[in-house]
Parts: sequence; C-alpha cells; structure tokens
Amino acid sequence: MAFPHPPNGTITTTTTTTTKSITPSELRREFSHHDPTIARINNGSFGCCPATIIAAQQRHQLLFLCQPDNFYFNILKPSILQTRRLIQTLINADHPDEVSIVDNATTAAAVVLQHTTWSFFSSIFQPGDAVLMLHYAYGAVKKSVQAYVTRAGGQVIEVHLPFPVKSSFDIVSEFQKALQIGKANGRKIRLAVIDHITSMPCVTIPVKELVRMCRDEGVDRIFIDGAHAIGNIDIDVKDIGADFYTSNLHKWLFCPPSAAFLYCKMSDELSDLHHPVVSHEYGNGLAMESAWIGTRDYSAQLVLPEVLEFVSRFDGGIEGIMKRNHDTVVEMAEMLINSWGTELGAPPEMCPSMAMVGLPACLGIKSDSDALKLRKHLRECFKVEVPIYYRAPLEAEVDPISGYARISHQVYNVIEDYYRFRDAVNKLVEDGFTCSLLSK
Ligand SMILES: Cc1ncc(COP(=O)(O)O)c(C=O)c1O
Repeated sequence: MAFPHPPNGTITTTTTTTTKSITPSELRREFSHHDPTIARINNGSFGCCPATIIAAQQRHQLLFLCQPDNFYFNILKPSILQTRRLIQTLINADHPDEVSIVDNATTAAAVVLQHTTWSFFSSIFQPGDAVLMLHYAYGAVKKSVQAYVTRAGGQVIEVHLPFPVKSSFDIVSEFQKALQIGKANGRKIRLAVIDHITSMPCVTIPVKELVRMCRDEGVDRIFIDGAHAIGNIDIDVKDIGADFYTSNLHKWLFCPPSAAFLYCKMSDELSDLHHPVVSHEYGNGLAMESAWIGTRDYSAQLVLPEVLEFVSRFDGGIEGIMKRNHDTVVEMAEMLINSWGTELGAPPEMCPSMAMVGLPACLGIKSDSDALKLRKHLRECFKVEVPIYYRAPLEAEVDPISGYARISHQVYNVIEDYYRFRDAVNKLVEDGFTCSLLSK
C-alpha cells in the first residue's frame, strides 16, 4: 500500500514534521473514550476512531454548520475529491474518477448489484444467467444479491469453502469446481462477488488468483468485497485486476463511520453505474453522484488527511501497524489454542489482523444461537467482547471443534485483553459450563 503525503495546506502539521513515534500514554489518550471495563478484541465488526480523528470530524461538522451554503457550494466537492485522490494513491488506481466515496460496503454492493439488475432489464444479461459468490459472503451482501439479482431473473451459485482451511489451494480448487458448475449447460456467469477477507469465518482469500480464474472462464464482471481490507492488508487494485473493489474506511483505517470507497475500473460501463440514492448529480458519473446524495453529514468522508497524519505517528506508518497487528493477533491466537488445546481456523499467512481460534469442544456450541448466547455470556459475565462462530460438524467427526472465536488486534489492544479471554474460557471449562445451561 503506497502511503501518500497529505497535500500541502490541508492539515496543520505535515507528516515530514512529525518524526516522533506516538507514546504509550498518547496512544491510551487517543482511545480513552473506549469503555475501560471491556476487553474489546473485536475491532473487525465496527472498527475504531481515535480522539484526534473525532476532533477533526467535529471541525468539519462545524465548518458545515457555521456557513452551510458556503460548505455545500465551495468546500464539499473539492474536499471529497481530495479524499478520492488519496484513496487512488493508496490502492494504486489509475484515475480519481475510478474512486467514489460512499457510506459503507453495503452501499457499494448496492451500486454494483443495481447495475447488474439493469443489465438483466436491458437484456444485456438473460434470465438464468448466474452470479457466483462465496458461501461465506457477508449476510447483508447475500441479501443484496437476492434483492437485485434473483428478483431480476438471475441465478446464484455459492462456492462452498472448507473450514478450517489448511491452505489457499483448498480455496482455489473449490472455486474452480464452482466455476465449472456455474458454466454447466452453457450458462453464463455474469458477475463474481468475492470477499478479500471473509467476515465469518475470517480468512484472507487469494483474490488475485480467483480473479485470473474468472477471466480465463469468461466471467463478465468481478466485484471484490474488501470491507475489512484497507488498513489491514495490502490492496493494489491494478494487480488484483477486478472491475469493482470496495473497502470500508471505518473498519481498519481509523475513520469514523460511515465512510468507504468503491473503485470501478475505467471502462465504457462506468457511465452506467449509479448511486442508489438519486440526487442533483445524477448522470455526472458515480464519483460525483456519490459526493452529493442530499443534505447529510459528510464529515466522516473528509478526515482522511488527518488519518494519514495519525498513522504517520506509528513506527512504519500504516505498513508498520498492519504488520504488528497481524503478528500480534497470530501470537495471541497461538497462546489461546495452546492454553485450550485447540487449533487455528486458518494458517497464519491466511490471517489478516484477525484470527479464528478454536474453542474447547466441551463448551457444547451446537448452533448459531449457542454461539450468540456464549458471546453475550462472555460480554456480561467476563467483560470480553468477541464474536463466536458456529461450525456444523461433518459426519463421522469425533469430538470436533464446533465453535471458533474471531479475535482482532488493533493498536489500542493490550495483551491483558487476550489473557482475560483465555482465563474466562478456562474458568468455564473448569466449572463444567456448557451452552445448554444458558437460557434462550
Ligand atoms: C465482508 C463484509 N462485507 C460487507 C460488510 C458490510 O459493511 P458495512 O456494514 O460497513 O456496510 C461487512 C461488515 O462487516 C463485511 O464484513
């Protein structure tokens, strides 16, 4: 990920003058608004926003409120263009017109899938043509596929991935099988929706290889859902080669909610893409449409220069943060499985700044509902916030691990967060706890 210097004059301190690393006490201050009683090892779900960036957001909000007309007519567009330019550099896109700023990955998916609907309605695609997506695609994105594709006459093919996963080869071979099933009887695969980092269970997907396979098999369009990716793993959209790529800025890049980008590769089709909320800029290109979708708070989309300043205070900038997050989450995951006698859900090289950690089988996680109840129990009785995944055992498995915790590591985490989780689970095991003891 190339990290640009903020343009001159946009922030008070430039990256070149900030030479000192953030100190532990400064770091604690940046996140002093977090509930101190909770071990939050779940950055993945909602991200985090440091105090400096919250203050920057408030400055942008005040700039709007002090003279709204001036803000709307003179400040908003150039400020969003600046965000787009910074993202362009971060993800190695060719042109700022390829980058639109939207609220979140859910909105980005709606843009791409609505475009697919119109391809059905205008007979570019035929009834029965298919969309391929991972079985582990994010629930809201699956619903979007249902709303925009199934209703328009398209079929959906799900790629079933193994979990726990041993290597990226397992994913590549399942994907190849699904492509063949998708193309059976001359059916056309019009769109592939591929996660860069699946949410639950969490695994880094070899997207570049899967995109190449899609191209070889004649898939028309490829959309990468990288909701968790920016600030977590490297993104090079040219190298990946997909048509569309989205990532949330509010998960791992310290922006407040709601901010995300949608990259759309330059092509003749670009002019056919529209924001689902239609406003004054309709027809002026997706990037312009997205930059004015009615009267609202745009401040979360304007703090990227300050975010670049914030990450420059860490050794190695964002690259250093990503590496330390990855290394530490793997170290903590290994500490947990060694204590509990379980295993990781994916090898370290397939873990981003999150890892799936097997829970002791004796906890008796037998359904999605058990996983939710255990999560609530950990929150309420042990003050640990961590999502739990239920994995249905395969036939003939003896004493399988049926529950995995998805742990995250972000700059605000401390080793005690993970020790608290380890000790909570060990206490449950010692006490003979099983999920069946929890009320509905
Ligand atoms: C893979 C994936 N896609 C999409 C989303 C949706 O993100 P948002 O709720 O910010 O729109 C998420 C959220 O966690 C996700 O993990």
